[in-house]
Amino acid sequence: MSKTTAAITAVHGYVPDYVLDNKELETMIETTDEWITSRTGIKERRILKGEGNGSSVMGAEAVKGLCKKRGISPEEIDLIICCTVTADHIFPATANIISDKIGATNAFGFDLNAACSGFLYGVVTGSKFIESGSHKKVIVVGVDKMSSIIDYEDRATCIIFGDGGGAVLLEPNEEGLGIQDSILKSDGSGAQFLNQKAGGSAYPPTHETIDAKEHYARQDGKTVFKFAVTNMADVSAEIMEKNNLTSDDIAWLVPHQANKRIIDATARRMGVSDEKVMLNIHKYGNTTSGTIPLCLWEYESQLKKGDNIVLAAFGGGFTWGSIYLKWAYNS
Ligand code: UT7
Repeated sequence: MSKTTAAITAVHGYVPDYVLDNKELETMIETTDEWITSRTGIKERRILKGEGNGSSVMGAEAVKGLCKKRGISPEEIDLIICCTVTADHIFPATANIISDKIGATNAFGFDLNAACSGFLYGVVTGSKFIESGSHKKVIVVGVDKMSSIIDYEDRATCIIFGDGGGAVLLEPNEEGLGIQDSILKSDGSGAQFLNQKAGGSAYPPTHETIDAKEHYARQDGKTVFKFAVTNMADVSAEIMEKNNLTSDDIAWLVPHQANKRIIDATARRMGVSDEKVMLNIHKYGNTTSGTIPLCLWEYESQLKKGDNIVLAAFGGGFTWGSIYLKWAYNS
């Protein structure tokens, strides 16, 4: 009997309309378009406006589009995993809110927080439900409204992040396509370098935490950069070695979009040429859990059944990892 694998069978994305470009940032903080472009590769990012609009708004749009494309009704979904660090609320889970918004009345759901590696963790988790045979249609959403936790006076963070997200459908595959292998890692000693200090149980929100701006994401950019370059490149090379893949075998690298220089270092380490690297950082910046599904969505028409694809990410936690998959369909 052939082994059942979990394959991505549909993908869809959503970005809000409002464009915050580098020129507008120049009017808000001490920076220049030239500095941001040369240090990060980012030209603009999207911002979700509107009172009461949280990450679920974007997640629901992505899942709705995905269901339409795949020709399934939301009632057929068994499970929704929402990967995010910007949940609509501390609880209930944003996955439940998305389910309600789209009418996924037969799905159970939960949120998963692994910062910029969230989508990778979510795909690996979702694939286990498929591989075990317990569930047939699993949605993994990667979405973040980073503008809700960004201090637009802090030039070390506000230039990088944006809002957006995407979703994939995982279904059983009997042809050996889909998820082949994964490596996931974390190291909590990195928490001090990239975090949102207050608002949780350690430092519940008070006037003092707000005044100290501790409800915003903060990072020691240089340190995070160093860890990201090393670990994202290492874990991508590791999954190639583990699966006897050469750079010629790889059709696409789908890297987390945090900084173009981190992406370039990863591609170099893997020996993968630029035209095989998915990129949208110039348009959307770092959407945390959203970057990888947004890339897959935008490049979907170029992907062919059987393509070997490596996904790779590094982010807060620290968390990092890579997934090796074989694309399962022609669009
Ligand atoms: O998604 C996962 C989490 N995040 C990341 O992976 C991000 C990792 N880090 C980075 O991408 C980079 O560290 C940044 C883009 C955040 C910063 O770039 P950098 O090349 O590491 O700059 P730096 O922090 O070393 O700063 C260099 C200089 C400093 O000035 P001095 O001290 O040399 O005079 C900064 O004050 O650039 C200054 N600077 C800026 N100048 C203009 C810092 N931010 C800005 C800015 N505009 N926005």
